[in-house]
Amino acid sequence: MARNKFDIDERLDTPFDIKHLKRAFVYMKKYRKKMIMSLVISAAAIIIGLLGPFIVQYAIDNVLPTKNYGMLIALSAALLGIIIVNVKLSQIRSRTMTIVGQDIIYDIRKDVFAHLQRLPFEYYDSRPHGKILVRVVNYINEIADFMTNGIITFALETFNVLFILIFMFIMDWRMACVIMLGVPVLAAVILSIKNNQRKGWQLVSNKNSNLNGYLHEGLEGARVTQMFTREEENDRIFRGLNEESRTVWMKAVFWNNILWPSIDIVAASIRVLIFLAGLLVIPGVSFGTIIAMSDYAARFWQPFMNIANLYNNFINTIAYLERIFELLDEPVNVTDIEGATKLPPIKGAVEFKNVTFSYDESAVILEDLSFRIEPGESIALVGPTGAGKSTIVNLISRFYNVNSGSVLIDGTDISGVTLESLRSQMGIMLQDSFVFSGTVEENIRYGKLDATPAEIRAAAQIVCADEFIQSFADGYETVITERGTALSQGQRQLITFARTLVSDPKILILDEATSSIDAKTERLLQQGLLQVLKGRTSFIIAHRLSTIQNCDKIMYVSNKGITECGTHEELLAKRGDYYKLYNARSA
Ligand SMILES: Nc1ncnc2c1ncn2[C@@H]1O[C@H](COP(=O)(O)OP(=O)(O)OP(=O)(O)O)[C@@H](O)[C@H]1O
Ligand SMILES: [Mg+2]
Repeated sequence: MARNKFDIDERLDTPFDIKHLKRAFVYMKKYRKKMIMSLVISAAAIIIGLLGPFIVQYAIDNVLPTKNYGMLIALSAALLGIIIVNVKLSQIRSRTMTIVGQDIIYDIRKDVFAHLQRLPFEYYDSRPHGKILVRVVNYINEIADFMTNGIITFALETFNVLFILIFMFIMDWRMACVIMLGVPVLAAVILSIKNNQRKGWQLVSNKNSNLNGYLHEGLEGARVTQMFTREEENDRIFRGLNEESRTVWMKAVFWNNILWPSIDIVAASIRVLIFLAGLLVIPGVSFGTIIAMSDYAARFWQPFMNIANLYNNFINTIAYLERIFELLDEPVNVTDIEGATKLPPIKGAVEFKNVTFSYDESAVILEDLSFRIEPGESIALVGPTGAGKSTIVNLISRFYNVNSGSVLIDGTDISGVTLESLRSQMGIMLQDSFVFSGTVEENIRYGKLDATPAEIRAAAQIVCADEFIQSFADGYETVITERGTALSQGQRQLITFARTLVSDPKILILDEATSSIDAKTERLLQQGLLQVLKGRTSFIIAHRLSTIQNCDKIMYVSNKGITECGTHEELLAKRGDYYKLYNARSA
């Protein structure tokens, strides 16, 4: 069932696979012109920047001794000019890359969200939603950052290192060789620290994802927590996750913190070496050259470090890409089959033919179930909790695929028709009446995007919601907070009920649609409903039997399948399960 709970780390240490990177390039292709432009601009900035030490060397060795102040000022101005041009160029680059980065984030998120929307219920049944959020928000940010800044920086820093080398060797190849002595030492230091650092941050990412998974669950269940005064136990779990997160963070930061000092020590030693070699060992090295070479050496370590950093980001990005592509590849197995046809306007005959269904391997919920409903009939499904009533109506809207057998509407197997043509003709009111943040009117309009205010009002009137909506200060414009917490459960049900009706469905499915509504309102609602049900096939699930007595047929669903079927009077006369249920209720 649960494939990844809050206490199980995401897999981020999978081996490197180039195919993810290839796939990621698809997202970058669109922006290659801008990226190449940024690359060229930055390359120009690097070369211009590297002229600096040459100017300094020339000033110290040739101009300073002659006391040619005019020339000195000119050279200083040139240095300043280099800095200004550099700042300008890097601004342009940074702006371009920020735009490209945000565009890439937008593109990936769009695809991911579109896919998430199409993923079957199954997917959400078995994953903590907090972790899905981390993927969509954090991972995509990191990926986009690498794909834009990361790749360009990598190219540039490689370029940078090469050019610094060239400039150093041009200036004085012997001194350049001295500097090169430091490279293996530095490489060893960087690689060992970086490796630990990467593992450290990966762990941080994992622990944060766990924390998020739990936090999300905690927020969703905050009321229940307080009701059962489970705060302490939850605190304990949260403290554990929080503690883990902090510990791994501190460990990762430790590696961050020792990185620069270690590099500084190596760099400083090399600088000493440069001075010693220039002043005492290598003959004929001018003071200006020593200063300029030590400047180049200082500039050399930065790109070196950046490349090592990028290597880390690269490894992480691959792992993140894998998680994102895994999500994108998650099969939408409830989807239009190849050559799916459009379901013609529904008349309303519904038939289950030897349907067997299970949510997962652990238990078969429906076994070899068959029944037939004629157009326009109203059917009530009653029976014990967990018997499979909601499951049956879920299958009519094809929220899940059947394992075997078939569900037919007007004789057409619904597995062969497009989901759009099927679901757009159905009105489904699920057991948990969900409202979105937005106004009351927007929530009702969700059922039919082009519904007029009059249609919305009419639907609300039928379900007896108009009265309480009007009583709000802003009426239909009242803003409902997320999940409708400011509404009573019954009000929420009535709004979702109106939403279902406004879509004018040919098949209406009401799963416990009126369970939270008071008896008086329910009686009124039933009168309105009688008109609505005319000419539509309807499935009504209700534990309150008064709601369903007038239905054309009542089906009793038990763990063994449908055991009784008939009108209220027929089933009472039969003195079977329904009779027992009815007597138990009215007792
Ligand atoms: N998403 C799911 N994943 C796995 N098993 C599920 C899922 N939803 C329901 N089940 C199982 O399927 C069985 C039937 O559930 P269903 O929701 O259809 O019952 P119901 O008759 O509607 O019950 P109630 O009257 O309580 O709403 C139950 O045993 C339940 O444990
Ligand atoms: Mg149910």
